[in-house]
Amino acid sequence: MKMRLLRFARNDHCSSLSITSQGLILILLFFLLFTSSTIAETLDFLNSYSQNITPQVLIIYDSVYGSTELIAKWIAEGIKDNVIVKNINITKESDLRDAHFILLGSPIYEADVTEGMRDFIIKNSPYYKDKPFGLFVVCGTHYVHGQRWVDNFEKLIGAKAKIKGYFGGILKPEILNKEDKKLLETYWRERGISNIKEYNYLNKGKAVSFGKKIKELLSEL
Ligand SMILES: Cc1cc2nc3c(=O)[nH]c(=O)nc-3n(C[C@H](O)[C@H](O)[C@H](O)COP(=O)(O)O)c2cc1C
Repeated sequence: MKMRLLRFARNDHCSSLSITSQGLILILLFFLLFTSSTIAETLDFLNSYSQNITPQVLIIYDSVYGSTELIAKWIAEGIKDNVIVKNINITKESDLRDAHFILLGSPIYEADVTEGMRDFIIKNSPYYKDKPFGLFVVCGTHYVHGQRWVDNFEKLIGAKAKIKGYFGGILKPEILNKEDKKLLETYWRERGISNIKEYNYLNKGKAVSFGKKIKELLSEL
């Protein structure tokens, strides 16, 4: 009887042991399944990232009356994927650090980029100088001076841009602030013209094509 009880106790112990080890095997199997699918998913993600996704582009612009902002958005339409458009006033250091390609855009006022863009360049040069970058300007004399304005912009930065562009902007006398109105009235009066010349040179197609060129360039980087 004692022997039977002992045997029974031993069997019980054995069966509880086998239940524990079965449990452990199951947990191990679940763990392996989970980690292998996670690893596979991670590899898939990295693969698709390297094959299809454009490196992150950050377009930083300054704009007083909105035309440079509009052109920045059209350029982004041409780039299409993985592109962020930000005004210089809300661009953070982390945006600059995360970007793989930076495009800076400024309107031209009195033959120069804006003061805001100048300050931005001085303050943030460590973040974009070691990355590929591009430049564009928006102005009223793009057809004669566009290239010169964008080349001056590049000199100001002191490093070679991967791509440069210039675009015609817009000028509506009725939306100008007092200071700008006075400045332009004087400018035109000195040239024998009594009214500020109004114009709209905006060209969406040209801006989108510029964006597409940037996209091509990114695949070669
Ligand atoms: C006060 C003032 C000065 C300007 N100076 C120049 C200039 O020197 N050269 C030029 O090509 N365009 C000049 N422009 C035209 C602007 O560059 C053009 O209107 C541009 O589209 C403005 O961009 P924004 O709307 O993004 O501010 C001037 C415009 C204003 C109002």
